[in-house]
Amino acid sequence: MGETSGSGEETLRANVIAEEFTEFCKLEAPGPFGMLIFGASGDLTRRKLLPALMRLIQSGLMPGDFFVLGASNEAWDDQTFRARAREQASSEFEESFDAALWESFESRLFYEYADAGNPESFAMLKRRLLGLEQEHRTGPKRLFYLAVPPQLFEPIIEGLGNEGLASQDHGFSHIVVEKPFGRDLQSAKDLEDTLARYFRETQIYRMDHYLAKETVQNILMFRFANAIFDPIWNQKHIDHVQITVAETLGVENRAGYYDSTGIIRDMFQNHIFQLLALTTMEPPSSFDADLIRDEKIKVFRAVRPFAPDSLGKSVIAGQYTQGSIKGKKVPGYRDESGVDSNSTIATFAALKVHVDNWRWNGVPFYLRSGKRLSKRMAEISVHFREVPHMMFLQNVEGGIPTNVLTMRVQPDEGISLSFQTKAQGTKLCLSPVLMDFAYEKSFSLSGYERVLLDCLQGDQTLFVRNDGVMRNWEIFTPLLQSMESENGKKRLCFYEAGSEGPEEADELIRRDGREWQPIGG
Ligand code: BG6
Repeated sequence: MGETSGSGEETLRANVIAEEFTEFCKLEAPGPFGMLIFGASGDLTRRKLLPALMRLIQSGLMPGDFFVLGASNEAWDDQTFRARAREQASSEFEESFDAALWESFESRLFYEYADAGNPESFAMLKRRLLGLEQEHRTGPKRLFYLAVPPQLFEPIIEGLGNEGLASQDHGFSHIVVEKPFGRDLQSAKDLEDTLARYFRETQIYRMDHYLAKETVQNILMFRFANAIFDPIWNQKHIDHVQITVAETLGVENRAGYYDSTGIIRDMFQNHIFQLLALTTMEPPSSFDADLIRDEKIKVFRAVRPFAPDSLGKSVIAGQYTQGSIKGKKVPGYRDESGVDSNSTIATFAALKVHVDNWRWNGVPFYLRSGKRLSKRMAEISVHFREVPHMMFLQNVEGGIPTNVLTMRVQPDEGISLSFQTKAQGTKLCLSPVLMDFAYEKSFSLSGYERVLLDCLQGDQTLFVRNDGVMRNWEIFTPLLQSMESENGKKRLCFYEAGSEGPEEADELIRRDGREWQPIGG
């Protein structure tokens, strides 16, 4: 039999049984390419992009011919760039650091000083790029990665476009734009106009790293590769859905970005709405990037706009005060270094959302995310309706809990379903059990490896399309305006770091006679 979980439920564990498919599912290495990273001296390049490339080499997923040209406004040369990259990689890979493999990688790393506002920089970059393409026999197969603050996106896109680098006559020219894609509807439209002047939609890869998580991709597999769930995946059988993305981290060293951004722009407009779309969309006719994104946009269009008086009712915004996380004292948001001591930026939000269509009419979606909560966890829980007739009411204490299907995005990735069984013993009594599938292995590829492979191979499935971005800004821009108004700021609630969020967020769901799934910690 199984083990007993903390909640007193029996747990039945399941393992992956399809090892024989591994060969078939193997990823393939892309063809030759040259990658130009803007922001090469920054955190993202050092912590994510270069280690991801290194892991792809280790996994045999890099072609024989490729190079990486880093660009930034630091006065570095190839050697400085390589030394910095090596320093990071040896601490990141620790004992699995393979010096010989690193050396062969390092010999393909190059660096060029560039000032995004100076057209001459782009002419220099082009010369260097063309030289490296010849030397490394890659041809004009180019991946441009914008690992820079958002204010540099447009000058860089223009610089590349004016040098003719967006053209893909004899190869490809793909551009990766990191989030945030704008900070409201107008700025997103401006950015889009600049991109569209030089690049076609098929060349643009708008990053949402949540889509690269295996467990997020698994939502579609789970829903559409199993016949038993779709018939009950609708308002007839589902009472409500909760999506929680909780973090224990605070703003870390990103106050400059976060204090003008806040949780709605940072997490809801993108990651959480992507989770919502994957949970609620209709099945596309095939697993094709555009068909999938067509279905997602239908969901976004069906999301009911926030009413002007939502704040304090169906929207709760919160900010953390000092508290403790895993026994360690942590400062309140306003005391974090670089944060305005009167900041009214929200680090937490709970929203009640409706998807007004045939499938979801009347089903509330409770969405919640915050920094400095009690535990790091991201999950989607689907709460089914009560049985139509409670014939067992006399056999349980306090009502019968309804079935809950939980898709755990992270950590402890997996899926569980709670249901009722007869408790062992003589008396006729009910007891809840949990049927649990857990991915037992840690994932071999992180999100960044996967998205790099996809942009090199021209697969846009895990990237966000223009219409989806714009529609989400249409939904969130009025809400942000209301949150940032003088009246809106007064509605900011507070929660202790290490807690499960503000009391007011509990009220939001309790008013409907429901409870949040515990975050734990
Ligand atoms: C990023 C946000 O997009 O996602 C961060 O900017 C947040 O603020 C992060 O911490 C969360 O990602 P993950 O993969 O750790 O859940």
